[in-house]
Amino acid sequence: MTRLNVGVLISGRGSNLQALIDSAAHFEYPARVALVVSNVPGAPGLARAEAAGIAHRTVDHRAFADRAAFEAEVTGALEAAGVELVCLAGFLRLLTDAFVAHWAGRIINIHPSLLPAFKGLHVHQRVIEAGVRISGCTVHFVVPEMDAGPIIAQAAVPVAMDDDADSLAARVLAAEHRLYPMAVRMLAEGRARLVDGRVEIDEAGASASALLNPTDGAGLLL
Ligand code: GRF
Repeated sequence: MTRLNVGVLISGRGSNLQALIDSAAHFEYPARVALVVSNVPGAPGLARAEAAGIAHRTVDHRAFADRAAFEAEVTGALEAAGVELVCLAGFLRLLTDAFVAHWAGRIINIHPSLLPAFKGLHVHQRVIEAGVRISGCTVHFVVPEMDAGPIIAQAAVPVAMDDDADSLAARVLAAEHRLYPMAVRMLAEGRARLVDGRVEIDEAGASASALLNPTDGAGLLL
């Protein structure tokens, strides 16, 4: 089996990176993490790559004259590692249009909301303040506009009455850790494809079930 070479860009904790590393440890997973790049020296995710024996690099944006120079270094590292798909996983630098264009159709991101709702930062606090009952996460192709771009996969979680931003973040994060590896798998297997600005999916079979929150107490099934 040829495995898709994935490059993961991080800035911090790297728990989504860990989920990808763990999935790639299974012999039948169709992708491998070829390189991890952090723009933040000492980011905890770098230690995760190290522990897994995965090549990793720090490209500190502060060491470069401008964004273009920083991104040229990142692209050079990714290409030298043979990266075919770039996964942003808690990468906190804005990317230039030129970088996004260079990797167009080959760069994806995970965002902790059901896009297009709640783009940007401080998502979970805003979700709670808005009083929505269901939140979740989205894996999408990256386009120049932030947190936009064709949606590949989404997972939904209920928002509990007593949630605060931390408890909701933890519930969404658990869903992220399942969703990101699944989305990468679908792309690697060619079961998800960009067609005319939307993602076409070969579904295993659409389920008719609905996630309702609140439930009626009896665990309503549609
Ligand atoms: C995740 O919530 C992800 O959705 C967002 O940044 C966070 C990164 O967490 N883009 P981690 O570094 O993967 O643990």
